[in-house]
Amino acid sequence: MPLPFIASIFFDGLPPWFPDPWLLLKASTAVGSVALTKWYTSGRTNPAERNLHGRVVLLTGGTSGIGAVTAYELASRGAQVVLLTRQPASDPFLVDYIDDLRRKTNNQLIYAEQVDLSSLWSIRQFATKWIDNAPPRRLDMIVLCAATLTPPGGKRVETEEGVESTFMVNFLANFHLLGILSPAIRAQPFDRDVRIIIPTCSSYIASPKLEDTTVLPLSKKDWTPGRAYAQSKFALMVFAKAFQKHLDAYQRPDELPMNARVVLVDPGFARTVGTRRWITRGSLLGLLFYVVFYVFAWLLLKSPNMAAQSILFAAMDSGIARVPGGRLIKECMDVDCARKDVDDEKDAEKLWKASDKLIEKLEKESALKRARQKKMQEEKEKEEKNAKEEKEKVEEIEALINKIKEGKAKEGQKKGTGKKKAAK
Ligand SMILES: NC(=O)c1ccc[n+]([C@@H]2O[C@H](COP(=O)([O-])OP(=O)(O)OC[C@H]3O[C@@H](n4cnc5c(N)ncnc54)[C@H](OP(=O)(O)O)[C@@H]3O)[C@@H](O)[C@H]2O)c1
Repeated sequence: MPLPFIASIFFDGLPPWFPDPWLLLKASTAVGSVALTKWYTSGRTNPAERNLHGRVVLLTGGTSGIGAVTAYELASRGAQVVLLTRQPASDPFLVDYIDDLRRKTNNQLIYAEQVDLSSLWSIRQFATKWIDNAPPRRLDMIVLCAATLTPPGGKRVETEEGVESTFMVNFLANFHLLGILSPAIRAQPFDRDVRIIIPTCSSYIASPKLEDTTVLPLSKKDWTPGRAYAQSKFALMVFAKAFQKHLDAYQRPDELPMNARVVLVDPGFARTVGTRRWITRGSLLGLLFYVVFYVFAWLLLKSPNMAAQSILFAAMDSGIARVPGGRLIKECMDVDCARKDVDDEKDAEKLWKASDKLIEKLEKESALKRARQKKMQEEKEKEEKNAKEEKEKVEEIEALINKIKEGKAKEGQKKGTGKKKAAK
């Protein structure tokens, strides 16, 4: 009973087995502070819920980190999830991953389509196939979780088409994909709640102003991994806002208002592959430090599951469909952007035009390259075919000559034996 115990403490003091109260206070303060810090850094849990049965979701980056949690949660609620992956759908690891996801979510409607976001050609191939469908395919949600970064101290990498890879995957790929899918988004019936969810990162605040740069990727001289990542996310946010305006400006044939909403989401810093690569600088020594000091990463960074909460909120909160699009969600709440120039219409127009121009130039170049390669391949195949035919002819003639020679030799032998017989 606590009362006799309290009374005994009061009259006789603390029992000898009781720990030092100061030590107890210090320990409980330490545990309490850790628990409070962990609770604070984990962020808010998504309070919204929505049945997603029958809804079609296109998801990039669904194979890792926050995107993987998003894929799992959306599929668990019945959505048909189309994962846009760098690998072909036949890749054995991807096949296993999808099988696993189907089993865990009890949802067979999870597929993969190959879309390498570092290739404009790959994006065009998928997106044109999607929009070429008649009647237009159902599309309820696009979640653009894929992203890349170069760890600090890393080298600037260019894609095969010659674009700096951070800018390409984080911005230009999304610009290109949404640009081509725009007719499919606008063609959705009025009563369909269409959402385009674009994860961003608070590092956008450190991006150079678009007007200070040439709008397009940073020059080699100005490039650093951090600046490239920040600029790619800032450009993505400027574009996201402009894309909402582009959708809103569309006059639907039924003259009803636009039903598609672009939602920007800042998931917060999380312990994902990308963050780990950044912290460890992509080195083994860095990885060793990460493992040794993992407790700090655990304490200060969110789990991918907690980081996905704001994305899930953007996907499921019913209020989002009732307010204008182009908003930023953080910790499952509507927040203001830290930079006002995200809404700058002139910058957005410049960015849009420059990106269009860059894509046109790159696509022309890569089409020419592909045509040249195809021609070279055809010529090579033709040469190989001619050489093969030539070889076969030579072999045929040689075989014929050999047969004639053999025939003559046999005839000679016969004549020889005939003469011998006659002589006998
Ligand atoms: N983690 C954070 O702390 C944090 C903070 C703020 C914002 N965010 C944002 O949240 C989103 C998800 O981040 P994350 O950390 O979860 O990402 P992550 O674990 O690094 O995963 C990146 C995903 O992007 C895919 N990807 C990369 N390059 C691709 C390409 N060329 N083609 C197709 N797919 C490609 C990867 O596919 P593979 O599996 O094939 O590599 C992977 O699925 C990103 O937009 C990120 O900017 C993250």
